[in-house]
Amino acid sequence: MAFFRRLLLSSLRYCTTQKFGTEAGTGEMGETLRNCMGDRATWDAFYSQSSPDNSSHFDWFFSYNFLQDFLLSLLSNLAQESYAGHPLHILDVGCGISDLGLCLFRDSPISVLVSCIDRCEPAILTMRNRITHGHSVISRHPDSCLQYIQGDVTDLYWIPSASVSLVLDKGTSDSLMRSGMLEATNMVKEALRVLRPGGKLVQLTDEDPDVRLPFLEKAGAGPFTILHKLMNKDGMFYYAYITTPPQT
Ligand SMILES: C[S@@+](CC[C@H](N)C(=O)[O-])C[C@H]1O[C@@H](n2cnc3c(N)ncnc32)[C@H](O)[C@@H]1O
Repeated sequence: MAFFRRLLLSSLRYCTTQKFGTEAGTGEMGETLRNCMGDRATWDAFYSQSSPDNSSHFDWFFSYNFLQDFLLSLLSNLAQESYAGHPLHILDVGCGISDLGLCLFRDSPISVLVSCIDRCEPAILTMRNRITHGHSVISRHPDSCLQYIQGDVTDLYWIPSASVSLVLDKGTSDSLMRSGMLEATNMVKEALRVLRPGGKLVQLTDEDPDVRLPFLEKAGAGPFTILHKLMNKDGMFYYAYITTPPQT
């Protein structure tokens, strides 16, 4: 129980650093978010508050700026191993209205297809609105593409097996675990199915290894997972759990 309280408090702390322009992570809505982060209606209500001026931005834990070097270096390694002229397919599962997918699309020096997926319609509409009516975002590579898809990340039936290079999960498995371990397990299984051999599932979370590693083990990802410490902030550790299905 103490562990969960610590997890929720730390999550809230990082909510407050990125705002819609109002107090996104505090007040009544912040309280609801903390208590009900596994509940779909909570996210629908939260993202419905996003501003209609296309400037909405909210990132769980931390924003792209903090992760930029780490993510671009991952992409560069993936490209060296697999690049054959095709765009690398990246999924941001449970994207919300985070900047992660948008900024990877913008900054990647190699061509990428970034698919940002969330089941929450207001989040997807906000992001689509942002890229069509907001400040234009130009990709560094002319062949890169970005799409926002409303869908359930526990069932990625429309994505072929072994077709994706990188699956990013920032806070989504944490959220799914609140609604049930089965949901979170299904998401990992789907990520492993769509990943091509040598591709990577990267889970960005503050969940301790003694909880996350057994979970990944049960979900079938255990033997292929390494742990990367991202930062220690005010006594809280933030991790990247990187799962690489083996080359066959
Ligand atoms: C903690 S938020 C993280 C959002 C975003 N990744 C970020 O870093 O700001 C969890 C997100 O997962 C989404 N989500 C939860 N369950 C989902 C599911 N089964 N399918 C798709 N999205 C889901 C929620 O709508 C929410 O946007």
